[in-house]
Amino acid sequence: MISIFINILLLVSFINPSTSSTDAKVYMVLMEDDPVVMMSLRSSEDRTMYKERMTQEHDVFLKSVLQNSSYNKLYSYTHLLNGFAIYAKGEEVLHMLRNAENVISVHEDTKMEKLTTHTPDFLGLTAGAWPALGGSTVAVAASRENVPQGINSQNQHALEGSSVHNTLQEQLLLQENLIPRATMLPPLMLMVMEGNHTASTAAGNHNVPVITNDFNYGYASGMAPGARIAVYKALYSFGGYMSDVVAAVDQAVEDGVDILSLSIGPAGVPSGPSAFLNVLELELLFATKAGVLVVQAVGNGGPSSSSILSFSPWITSVAASITDRKYNNSVTLGNGQHLIGSGLAPPTVGGVFFPIAAAADVCEKNITAGLVESCQSADPFIRALVRGKLIICTYSFDFESEAASIFTVAATAQKIGAAGFILTIDPDIGSEHIKGATLTLQVPGVILNNMESSSALWEYYNSNTIRSRTGEAVGFRATARILDGRQATYSGQAPVVASYSSRGPDVNNALLENADVLKPNIMAPGSSIWAAWTPNSEGDEYIKGQTFALLSGTSMATPHVAGIAALIKQKHPSWSPAAITSAMMTTANVTDQSGAPILAQGKNKLAPATPFDFGAGSINPSKAIDPGLVFDVNFKQYVQFLCAVPGVDDMSIRQAVGVGCPAKRKEWCSDLNTASVTVSNLVGSRKVIRKVTNVGDADEKYRVSVREPVGVNITVTPQVFKMSVNATRNIKLLLEATHRTNAYSFGEMVLEGNKNHVVRVPIAVFVSSSLVLKAVMDLRKLGIKNSHLSKQVGGLECFRFLSICQTP
Ligand SMILES: *[C@@H]1O[C@H](CO)[C@@H](O)[C@H](O)[C@H]1NC(C)=O
Ligand SMILES: *[C@@H]1O[C@H](CO)[C@@H](O)[C@H](O)[C@H]1NC(C)=O
Ligand SMILES: *[C@@H]1O[C@H](CO)[C@@H](O)[C@H](O)[C@H]1NC(C)=O
Ligand SMILES: *[C@@H]1O[C@H](CO)[C@@H](O)[C@H](O)[C@H]1NC(C)=O
Ligand SMILES: *[C@@H]1O[C@H](CO)[C@@H](O)[C@H](O)[C@H]1NC(C)=O
Ligand SMILES: *[C@@H]1O[C@H](CO)[C@@H](O)[C@H](O)[C@H]1NC(C)=O
Ligand SMILES: *[C@@H]1O[C@H](CO)[C@@H](O)[C@H](O)[C@H]1NC(C)=O
Repeated sequence: MISIFINILLLVSFINPSTSSTDAKVYMVLMEDDPVVMMSLRSSEDRTMYKERMTQEHDVFLKSVLQNSSYNKLYSYTHLLNGFAIYAKGEEVLHMLRNAENVISVHEDTKMEKLTTHTPDFLGLTAGAWPALGGSTVAVAASRENVPQGINSQNQHALEGSSVHNTLQEQLLLQENLIPRATMLPPLMLMVMEGNHTASTAAGNHNVPVITNDFNYGYASGMAPGARIAVYKALYSFGGYMSDVVAAVDQAVEDGVDILSLSIGPAGVPSGPSAFLNVLELELLFATKAGVLVVQAVGNGGPSSSSILSFSPWITSVAASITDRKYNNSVTLGNGQHLIGSGLAPPTVGGVFFPIAAAADVCEKNITAGLVESCQSADPFIRALVRGKLIICTYSFDFESEAASIFTVAATAQKIGAAGFILTIDPDIGSEHIKGATLTLQVPGVILNNMESSSALWEYYNSNTIRSRTGEAVGFRATARILDGRQATYSGQAPVVASYSSRGPDVNNALLENADVLKPNIMAPGSSIWAAWTPNSEGDEYIKGQTFALLSGTSMATPHVAGIAALIKQKHPSWSPAAITSAMMTTANVTDQSGAPILAQGKNKLAPATPFDFGAGSINPSKAIDPGLVFDVNFKQYVQFLCAVPGVDDMSIRQAVGVGCPAKRKEWCSDLNTASVTVSNLVGSRKVIRKVTNVGDADEKYRVSVREPVGVNITVTPQVFKMSVNATRNIKLLLEATHRTNAYSFGEMVLEGNKNHVVRVPIAVFVSSSLVLKAVMDLRKLGIKNSHLSKQVGGLECFRFLSICQTP
């Protein structure tokens, strides 16, 4: 224990070598004494009084410990945590706070990242879960733009969070039926950027026409149109800080929300035993204790493995899929060639062909080539030459760095009177992820988002353009017409795990082993999601003025799950957050619309998806409402989980969660009663117990079957059992390593009821060693050195005491 503790200290001082710097920093300070949720305060007056007293105590404490003008208090945290955030300068402050009485811990603020209508039909919601429109409250973390950290200092009300209960206003808006649900917020509330987008995805109104740039793209609906929404500003356009997010969560739970939808995550995952004990994770654990389900984006770091940003077992971490809807656009060339690209733009007029001209061939010659080719300004164009032609512009690094935008290309085309534009890709980029490719345009345009189409266009253009001896274009014989890019096509092959969606396994513990927690938990649509947009958003210049936007990311998948969780909560108000998560996980689809296993986009390839790509699978709302069985977890069991994390000692648990570890500790993190089984280091065998509760409305007989991961023999008892309503029972799984796999392998346990319930539990195991190696481990434990145990013989590792060799 002692050596591990020293390790932690070293780690901290290694990460923060510059605490001596005089830069001002934000610190979050956690104090002794319980926050509001821990107290049994009966009336709301009592709660308010307690809250005020805590806030005062923070101020008195700060006055007594720090010099008057050396700090600025940003927030008092009172509901889920007892603590505060301050903005202060210098090492001295940190030192004084750390050593002050009543202080549990001091944490330097860290950066958080923002991890964007067809989806309800795709999920089968319209047929299944929707008739029951609910009244749960969803909190959605939104962005706070252009408000530098610290400016809102003493103002604890800067969050402007508030639930929406104004039925009169609600009625009005429902009648208009054109405005997303997100607008039912008090007028003073300034929602910006993704706030509107994610909020409307979670709980936007049913069947809202998506009209943008004068075109009706169809009808959009939020996942839970009957839910109430509260939106809290905690982010800037570039991301945000944990101290603000912690304050927003504190306020949201105090306001009585049922579900928190966090489309944000830490900029980097803390490693080591303290990962689960950082301020935000702890706060979210307390939120769970208070009955609030936390849904969080898993991150956009895929397809690399171990790219998870949402890692705690009390959080529902959401992966993103692409749906089967595609918007492609195409251009037909004068020679009959048909090039496919993208671009949500109208067709060129009249179905006729227009001459094509490369931007450089119709511009003044004294301008830098790069400026001309990206078509970011109308100035260099020679109007007489360009009018009525399709201009070819080039997508270069300037677009990637956002110095140039497709929106401006369209604006230029309009200003110079071009018939439209064709955007080709700079061969140096070669990327197929075009920034701004999903914005809606008023000008005919096509984005040739692959090198083949781009080269084909240039070849056709160059061989049909007549040039003078000096190379000047004098005759434009190449022609084309652009088709309508605003019509969606549906492939019927979906969902597929999106390449950007972060992948498991979960974070490392102190022994540098992955935690025995399955992440992500569940997958929902995240690519090209239509939802409400803030017309006056300062964030992305190119979508300014639009009321709907098509965005992608695990940020967009998260509110889908939050909305569906709200439907479940409304149907089953007494269910715990863990029960709701279990319901969504055990009923998720592992096959796509055609019945084939769901695939995952990898680096330039598709492969069958594993639980590290999509958790339990693709969310299936109509089944999640009636899962049959659930795996429940309470606060005490989460504490037992923390006590089983290697390298975490009793003292830090007690300080973090207010209670110590039980005398009889759980041995493994895999003992937590989740709707999944993950063993990241199986040595020999491990017993895993799961407790199920029958939440169906009748007695049911279940039959258990197991698909074993490679290298593991699993014995389940009982294999058949009958359960009465509300009854609970244990299921025992014995995992035995049969051979070393040197990689994770996956399987599942399926409990099939005779009343139509199918409960699926994903299994992920890394066999570190077979039974033979178990014996070796035991010998090592006896203190026998590795070099005495085995030696290399002809590429094999041979064990002296066992007369056994194997490939190392
Ligand atoms: C300390 O703070 C109080 C109130 O904020 C102020 O009136 C006073 O001038 C300050 N004293 C010093 C020494 O800065
Ligand atoms: C789930 O799978 C079933 C059967 O394969 C399919 O009919 C249904 O459309 C799928 N639902 C979703 C939301 O993918
Ligand atoms: C959010 O969207 C609604 C509807 O488009 C809009 O009225 C509201 O102003 C938006 N929020 C902000 C801050 O613009
Ligand atoms: C979209 O692409 C598909 C296949 O790639 C093609 O069949 C279809 O014609 C394209 N649609 C348009 C509008 O070009
Ligand atoms: C380029 O040449 C045009 C016409 O000769 C002139 O009007 C313009 O000012 C020049 N621009 C620059 C940047 O030199
Ligand atoms: C798996 O376990 C069962 C029950 O103990 C046993 O009968 C079977 O032989 C085992 N299979 C392997 C491959 O070890
Ligand atoms: C099962 O539990 C629920 C929720 O506590 C309760 O409403 C219901 O009456 C119980 N049913 C039976 C048969 O005990």
